[in-house]
Amino acid sequence: MSALVQLAQAPRRSVHLDEGAVVDIREARLPDSVEISALIAPFAAQGVMLPKSAAQVAEAIDRYRVAVVGDRIVGSVGWRPVPPGTAEVVAFAVASEAQGRGVGGRLLDAILREVEAAGRDRVFAMTLRPALFERVGFRRGRHHEVPEKIRMDCVRCPRRVGCREILVLREPRTSGSGR
Ligand SMILES: CC(C)(COP(=O)(O)OP(=O)(O)OC[C@H]1O[C@@H](n2cnc3c(N)ncnc32)[C@H](O)[C@@H]1OP(=O)(O)O)[C@@H](O)C(=O)NCCC(=O)NCCS
Repeated sequence: MSALVQLAQAPRRSVHLDEGAVVDIREARLPDSVEISALIAPFAAQGVMLPKSAAQVAEAIDRYRVAVVGDRIVGSVGWRPVPPGTAEVVAFAVASEAQGRGVGGRLLDAILREVEAAGRDRVFAMTLRPALFERVGFRRGRHHEVPEKIRMDCVRCPRRVGCREILVLREPRTSGSGR
């Protein structure tokens, strides 16, 4: 069995975080893929987000950001292109021991800057935590507003009937003045 497979199957060890622990946000690197996948796994098991294999993370690693304490990953977020000109926020998770300290908010800011730099000005997420997104200019919408997402994922999702996820969407401002 390869080292990568062994690591992929190992449960994530939690990090002790004291009050003064410094949490940095940085670009993700290929070797982070396994740890990101392990970070997401318990939340996926609880049904609050979709699972991501290390291979799935690896193939999009240049669109991920991580929160780190020393050499341990305590948070992740990524984006994926959804045609046309739209981006979806994915893999947004903070380890339970690091939650409620603003790490999620910082990750979200970082990925939104990245999405903007990539020239995508329409961003959405499917989430059970809409307030975090609403704080940075997202509004709640209806699932049919992102038909691309429905075609790509929802049609195959076992939880599509009675889906509890809330669509949050941020779009470019229109002038609205009519002049
Ligand atoms: C959603 C999630 C990523 C948020 O991460 P987080 O690091 O806890 O996020 P923040 O700390 O920035 O914000 C969480 C709350 O703590 C508050 N907070 C932020 N900084 C704080 C600080 N220094 N001290 C106390 N509270 C703080 C925020 O106001 C926020 O309040 P809210 O719950 O009313 O929205 C995290 O809870 C998670 O991984 N959940 C499970 C997976 C999931 O649901 N992912 C979302 C999929 S889209």
